[in-house]
Amino acid sequence: MFLSIYVYRRLGLTLDLSQDLPVLPPAAIREGPAFERLTAEPERLRDPAQLRRWLTAFLPENGAIVPYREHALREWKRHRVGSERDSAASILWGNADAEYTGAIDFRQTTDAPDEALPPRGPAELETIGEREIGARLDLATRIADGAPRTRPEELLELPGRLSALSGMRGKLGLTQRDDGGWAVAHGDALNTWIVKHEQREGLAGEAGLEAICQRALGLVGIPAATTGARVFDGRQAVISERTDRAPRAGGGIDARHQEEWIQAACHRPDNKYDDGRCEGPQWPDACRLLRERANDPDAETARLTRVVAAAWMLGNGDLHRRNLGFLHSPAHSIPALMLAPLYDASSAAGTQYNKGLAVGMEGTTQADRVTPIRWLRHSNVCGIPPDITMAAIDGLFHLLPDALTTARAEARDVDQHLSRTAVEDRVEATIRHVQARERTYRQQQAGAE
Ligand SMILES: Nc1ncnc2c1ncn2[C@@H]1O[C@H](COP(=O)(O)OP(=O)(O)O)[C@@H](O)[C@H]1O
Ligand SMILES: [Mg+2]
Repeated sequence: MFLSIYVYRRLGLTLDLSQDLPVLPPAAIREGPAFERLTAEPERLRDPAQLRRWLTAFLPENGAIVPYREHALREWKRHRVGSERDSAASILWGNADAEYTGAIDFRQTTDAPDEALPPRGPAELETIGEREIGARLDLATRIADGAPRTRPEELLELPGRLSALSGMRGKLGLTQRDDGGWAVAHGDALNTWIVKHEQREGLAGEAGLEAICQRALGLVGIPAATTGARVFDGRQAVISERTDRAPRAGGGIDARHQEEWIQAACHRPDNKYDDGRCEGPQWPDACRLLRERANDPDAETARLTRVVAAAWMLGNGDLHRRNLGFLHSPAHSIPALMLAPLYDASSAAGTQYNKGLAVGMEGTTQADRVTPIRWLRHSNVCGIPPDITMAAIDGLFHLLPDALTTARAEARDVDQHLSRTAVEDRVEATIRHVQARERTYRQQQAGAE
């Protein structure tokens, strides 16, 4: 029982899973020719404990893990390898037919796997209607939340490839057709959009606000995934165009390698937020990675500063270690990293969730304690010239309120909402939040002089 891991369709690793050990012995791990392309710091995968965390990050983090376990169980039984397995590698082996993030594919192989990814099956797209999407969103949400009387196996009975994605919301992978209709990918086809159900009590307007924040970030020059708010048969959803997928010259879709920060760091996947102990990777660690691996380290670290500053201004307390991604250079270029376009960026302004930064800065997660002096210290430890950081902050304070207004106007005729008023109120609260943050920051600046 071997699990081969391909990246950009070339063999990166083969794992011998004859024994179901959570941490594999080094003898069970064999590198392939594309090993160096698997992750940001491939040498980490030589440490079996880090490899295990890297593998775990491919699996869903919400209740959707239950059907993945169930599917793996069926596969183990089919291959008569027992049913007591629960390591991430074994679950991935049993779900080698699912679609994963980035340019990674899993295959069940022998100890002599092909160096090039063996075909899975003809690439086909099956059209899916609005009602079916609505029903699938309901199911995904019930499974994600582990709702009573849910049969997670129902997910396995649906046609098309499952998309293994992290995050707490129920979500699906879909492809948008040229005529605007939707389809699900079969065989070797890839889904190009993530559709997530976003309809929570106490958070009305969240989908519309996320779409507008994403647009506003794009308008201020921070790359952000194309994002919209849609209603599918009465269910409010966010649609996000996958930045780890790209059209192939001559037709079809290629995967582009991308990984979440937590995965790039091979850190514990559930440690997304600072919980006061600051044990996960910190902003200076992300800067170091970019400095060591980016083609243009100065541009990338400056971009990260703007990303963090924008989250702080918007009241986005959810810029955690799985809501930040690193995009790898395409298959046939020299390996390099850059920040992935942002996704899942929103604002908690005016809600009970506005609780500060997800990953702290210089020892604090409290937004009000992120003073000009702290920004300077942060800039210093990240190796970014202070004038770059200060100019980034001034620029964003200047641009963000108008960008939010423009984004709201642009989205008006495109996005669909269950409650337009709720979206309008949340955008207003977000604009006021940016302005209030600027007032506090200026007062602190004046006080320090
Ligand atoms: N546009 C995108 N391109 C590539 N990957 C994405 C995109 N949007 C989301 N993802 C991936 O899917 C995961 C879950 O999506 P996210 O929107 O963060 O859901 P949730 O709101 O449940 O956290 C992300 O952490 C990221 O790995
Ligand atoms: Mg998320």
